Amino acid sequence: MIQAIKGFRDVLPGDIELWQEIESEAVKVFENFGFKEIRVPVLEKTALFSRSIGENTDIVEKEMYTFEDRGGDMLTMRPEATASVVRSYIQHNMQADNPIRKLYTIGPMFRRERPQKGRYRQFYQINAEVFGIASPYIDAQIMVMLSHLLDRLGVTELSAHINSLGCPCCRPSFQNAIKEIAEKSGENLCDDCKRRKDKNPLRILDCKSVHCQEILKDAPVLTDFLCDECRDHFDIVKSSLESQGVKYTIDHKLVRGLDYYTKTAFELKTNMLGAQNSVAGGGRYDGLVKSLDGPDVPAIGFAIGFDRLVDVIAASRKPYIRTPEVFIMAPGNIPVSAVFSWICDLARDGIWADTDYSGKSLKSMMKRADKDGAKYVLIAGESEFEKETAILKNMATGEQEEVSFSGLVTRVIKIIRNL
Ligand code: HAM
Repeated sequence: MIQAIKGFRDVLPGDIELWQEIESEAVKVFENFGFKEIRVPVLEKTALFSRSIGENTDIVEKEMYTFEDRGGDMLTMRPEATASVVRSYIQHNMQADNPIRKLYTIGPMFRRERPQKGRYRQFYQINAEVFGIASPYIDAQIMVMLSHLLDRLGVTELSAHINSLGCPCCRPSFQNAIKEIAEKSGENLCDDCKRRKDKNPLRILDCKSVHCQEILKDAPVLTDFLCDECRDHFDIVKSSLESQGVKYTIDHKLVRGLDYYTKTAFELKTNMLGAQNSVAGGGRYDGLVKSLDGPDVPAIGFAIGFDRLVDVIAASRKPYIRTPEVFIMAPGNIPVSAVFSWICDLARDGIWADTDYSGKSLKSMMKRADKDGAKYVLIAGESEFEKETAILKNMATGEQEEVSFSGLVTRVIKIIRNL
């Protein structure tokens, strides 16, 4: 039997309802904040990701699904959506009539990481990106938007961690300070950090190795190195979050795994998913649009790890699963064409009516209706068929009513809708 590829999984009915609920709540909340949906391809030129996420990141170095297509182009299954949304912003010259764009996109991403709970090779993200606003109030606003979404979903288990990563003016001196500490400790760093110290020293800060953490225990913090502009920006972000009652922790070790960030960076964390504790992450990326040959437009955004948010919610509640409103029971030797047209006519009016067309006994159909959770059954047994009537029975109360075949659909809707 052919099975799904490792790290790739099916989301089945029974689980998908929670995904649908999250998606529809996200769309409502995001649109209240002026976001519009954008759909971007899952396949892009490899250079888009290596230039934006950074050549020396884990994603680009080890995790991308990259291949040469039959035309000789190097292509990559997108590991994230931000680069694609930026490409689209530039390609469609979106800044021409109004540089401010608020865009969201929902879909699968691909990273060849080691699969474990909360970590998949195909996973889903809900992304929101804002272009053209440099004000720190928009940084706070998108975090408030996230907190509105979590409130509507009843999620209380996540904590917001924020940091400022500075800008090209102030960050290099901090990077040098970390590099110096790393160089002094030489062989004691883990193998990954030995490489990182020259190419991407900030990533040593969030290394999980206890040795590396010990080495950096007394390291300076990035916020002490911020220039005036970055410090003022960060102060306004913090006070705006406070004014909206959004709780946060300042996390000096939060550096994010993608190179494009400037100033504000944040993550929503949980302790429910073991090592995979980041449920959403984002930040400002003021230089990215320009570095991809676009205009000099500031930007900020985030992505929610859809799979992880589902896991967090599923641990505390079940999704609402729709069941048939009426199950039509018409045992053998009765014309199923009538049942067929009732089902289609009821569906047109928004009522989910179902049957199994099995022609089995009333008893076995009743079992099926019960198992499916039908709220009503419509019984059209042989004697009812002769009288051209059916019986509509409320499964919860046991109440029943005879309905005539003529005008049956209208009558059934009236009873079910309690009109
Ligand atoms: P990221 O931190 O790489 O950021 O991913 C965002 C979220 O995607 C993570 O917090 C996590 O919940 C989820 N995620 C990442 N990898 C996996 C995986 N292998 N399995 C399951 N979930 C995963 C970005 O992707 C940025 N593009 C976010 C952003 C948007 N920054 C600005 N705008």
